[in-house]
Amino acid sequence: MNHTPSQPPKPYTVPRIRELKGSERIAAITCYDASFARIIDQTPIQLVLVGDSAANVIYGLDTTLPIRIDEMVMHTRAVAAGLTRPLLVGDMPFLSYQPSAEIAITNAGRLLQAGAKAVKVEGGGAHIRGIITKLVEIGIPVMGHLGLTPQSVHRFGGFKLQGKKASDAERMLVEAKLLEQAGCFSLVLEKIPSKLAAKITSSVSIPTIGIGAGPSCDGQILVLYDLLGLDPAFKPRFVRRYAELAGIILDALARYASDVMAGNFPSDKESFS
Ligand code: KIV
Repeated sequence: MNHTPSQPPKPYTVPRIRELKGSERIAAITCYDASFARIIDQTPIQLVLVGDSAANVIYGLDTTLPIRIDEMVMHTRAVAAGLTRPLLVGDMPFLSYQPSAEIAITNAGRLLQAGAKAVKVEGGGAHIRGIITKLVEIGIPVMGHLGLTPQSVHRFGGFKLQGKKASDAERMLVEAKLLEQAGCFSLVLEKIPSKLAAKITSSVSIPTIGIGAGPSCDGQILVLYDLLGLDPAFKPRFVRRYAELAGIILDALARYASDVMAGNFPSDKESFS
C-alpha cells in the first residue's frame, strides 16, 4: 500500500477503478458488515461489493431472490461505516431495478445514501441497458453483471455454467460491448468459460471482474465467507479457500462453553469489585 501514517491512503473512486485496466489487477471481495469491512480496509483490496449473496451467507437462503432493498440498504450502511479506501459498490436486489427506470433510480439512490459509490445490476438485455443508461445519466455509476446472473437462476434451471453454446457466447460478447456503451464502469463475469471471459476482457475498455471466469479477467471477486471457509460443506470449483475459519470458530466456542460450564469464566480479572 502506498501510504504513510501522516498521509491517509487515497480512496478508490470509480474513475480510478476504471483506470486500473491494463495496469493493475483488481482484487474485489464481498462484505456485509462493519467488523469485516474494518479488516478489509487494512488490506490492498481495491473494491468491495455488498452482494445480494447476503441472502445466501447471512440469511441462509437458497437463492438471492428473496432479499429486499431495505435489507441491502442496512448492510451497505454497515459496510460503509467500516470502509475508507476500497470502492464500495451496492448490489441492487431482485425487483429493485427491473420494473422501471424510476424504481431503479429511487433504489440505487437509497444505496448511495447508505454509503455506496456505485451500484451493480444483473443482465445485458435491451430493457436492463435502458435502465443503466438512465442511472448513469443522473450520476449513479453502474457495474454490470453477465454470465451466471443468480437472479435469473430459475430461467437457467440452476447455478450452471453459462456461455458454453457458441450462440450464447456470441450474445454475451455483444451484450458486454453494449453494457460498456450504456455507461457501465466495470463488468462482473460469473461462471463462464475462461476463453469467453478472455475474449470479453480484450473486447471492452472497462475492467472485467471474474468469479468462476478464469484468470484472464482484469480482476477477481469472491464471496468473503467462501474465501474464509465459514461453510465447510460449500466448496465450488472456482473458490479458493484462504482460511478454514469454521474450525477455528467452532474450537473457540467449544472452549468458551466448556469454561462457562466448568465455572472457569469469568475469572476475578474479568470481573468488577
Ligand atoms: O452477490 C454477490 O456476491 C455477487 C458476486 C458474486 C459478484 O454478485
